[in-house]
Amino acid sequence: MSDMHRKAASKTDEHPLSKGILSDERVIAPGVLVGGGARLLSMEEVVPLLVSPDSGLALTFDVLREQLIDAKGAQYPVRDGLPLLIPKGLQRFYTDHLEMPPEAVTDAFYQYYFLSAVKQSGVVGAINAPASDIHYQRHLFRMKDCLNTAHGLVLDVGCDDPEIGAGLLPSGLLYVGLDPFCQRAEPFRVVGFGEQLPFADSSFDGVMFNTSLDHILDWRRAVEEAWRVLVPGGQLFISTLVWTSNADLVTDSVHFHHFRDYEILGALQDGWEIERKIRYGYKGNTHRHGLYLSARKPASVSR
Ligand SMILES: C[S@@+](CC[C@H](N)C(=O)[O-])C[C@H]1O[C@@H](n2cnc3c(N)ncnc32)[C@H](O)[C@@H]1O
Repeated sequence: MSDMHRKAASKTDEHPLSKGILSDERVIAPGVLVGGGARLLSMEEVVPLLVSPDSGLALTFDVLREQLIDAKGAQYPVRDGLPLLIPKGLQRFYTDHLEMPPEAVTDAFYQYYFLSAVKQSGVVGAINAPASDIHYQRHLFRMKDCLNTAHGLVLDVGCDDPEIGAGLLPSGLLYVGLDPFCQRAEPFRVVGFGEQLPFADSSFDGVMFNTSLDHILDWRRAVEEAWRVLVPGGQLFISTLVWTSNADLVTDSVHFHHFRDYEILGALQDGWEIERKIRYGYKGNTHRHGLYLSARKPASVSR
């Protein structure tokens, strides 16, 4: 090996994720993850954490009118017991069925919302693989492992079915799910965007993105929002696909991003303390892998 090649190789070895791709062939029996897990918070328990996604002002629940209201009178609907904390500018486009008139698609955020609807309309109710899928089971097992240091109150951003995320957390924890899509009234979650979390600063001990970060248009903003709503010392948990080649969003009907490792690590450079990062093989692919990462907002925060 020439000096140049040796240098290049050692540089690769220094890459934070270069410890290699682990092959994890464990299979968990369907049903192993059901039961136990975190307890889902109810509407009454979540209200003290809620703020307007537009102004950041605290919200109170008007039980008679089934609305959340801030000190200046701004109102947010509650539908089937779920708080719809969608920014005001988007509320008129918001329906259960994700219908959105194309003529409304005039700015980036609306375009995102529209694209989201298009991407996800093909997979209504089944964004995830079936529970019996061996790769999905492995993923659940790995994420459960990743979450085993979580404690206290945890927010699951992009939760889809809250019982999945809650079931992965250690028992005794408290759980709040959030997702922009609102097709089922049960179980309880907050309907909102990761980019504008409707929660007060320092509300949670943990924030998790369980295969949701690559669905969120402004995912860096969502990570910043996670920082804001975490208490000092709070933990961030991410599971996501990462790509080394063959990334092709145009033909991908579901995701908004095909991450490379350095994007995720780069986004966490500013202040986060990375505690754990494991990259597993995924479906035997050579070009995409599953990244499971946890990081901490330092107990004494400088930013
Ligand atoms: C692959 S699913 C993962 C669902 C769940 N975490 C799980 O593991 O079962 C991705 C989720 O991200 C949600 N999502 C899309 N855009 C989002 C946004 N801007 N903020 C928060 N979640 C979003 C989708 O609605 C979807 O439920």
